[in-house]
Amino acid sequence: MTIAHQTAPRIPEVDLGVHHKARGFGDRLAYGFTKTLRFCADTFFARRYGHRAIVLETVAAVPGMVGATLTHLRCLRNMCDDQGWIRTLMEEAENERMHLMTFIEVAKPTLFERCVILGVQWVFYLAFFTLYLVSARTAHRVVGYFEEEAVISYTHFLAELDEGRTANGAAPAIARHYWKLPDDATLRDVVLVVRADEAHHRDVNHGFADVLAGRPTAVATAPYPTHADDIRMAA
Ligand SMILES: [Fe+2]
Ligand SMILES: [Fe+2]
Repeated sequence: MTIAHQTAPRIPEVDLGVHHKARGFGDRLAYGFTKTLRFCADTFFARRYGHRAIVLETVAAVPGMVGATLTHLRCLRNMCDDQGWIRTLMEEAENERMHLMTFIEVAKPTLFERCVILGVQWVFYLAFFTLYLVSARTAHRVVGYFEEEAVISYTHFLAELDEGRTANGAAPAIARHYWKLPDDATLRDVVLVVRADEAHHRDVNHGFADVLAGRPTAVATAPYPTHADDIRMAA
């Protein structure tokens, strides 16, 4: 188990060693799908971590909204309580959108990347929506594995910054506001809090999949960084 070192006390520590061992066909399908997408992302982006973050965060912001929508509709049909899942999933979607809004301040998407995002959003939204209808458990497991990979990618991004291959500039104003970072916060601080967000999503989604599988959750949920109550900055 590896614990990342922190640069600011308010940034929660991240357990980098968390991995859900696939159990059953649904888990293996989710893991295989995730690893296939990981290979595609590694091939397409290589070490362009800012651009990787932009494209992948447009995808990452989809599952929470799909899960919230379908859970909302299920609760209406069954006239039952959601156990807090809907707000959790909507918050996840908003948090991922804030990751995107932060990284477009760091790297500008190319025209080709914008076209990729358009196509991928249609395909991924429809595919994930269908998967969630068929097996919400597998859908949450997919997100849990996506988030495991996100933690790894942001750890590589940190190494890129620490080894000087990417300049560690000032944190964008939107990030300082959203994560309540100090005025002198850097891009490295931003990547640390984003990675902590991803670790939290990882554990929440694996936990939801475990609940739907009728199994006890294997790991404790990683702490969530502090976020601004109002995500819009004052003009
Ligand atoms: Fe994210
Ligand atoms: Fe995430």
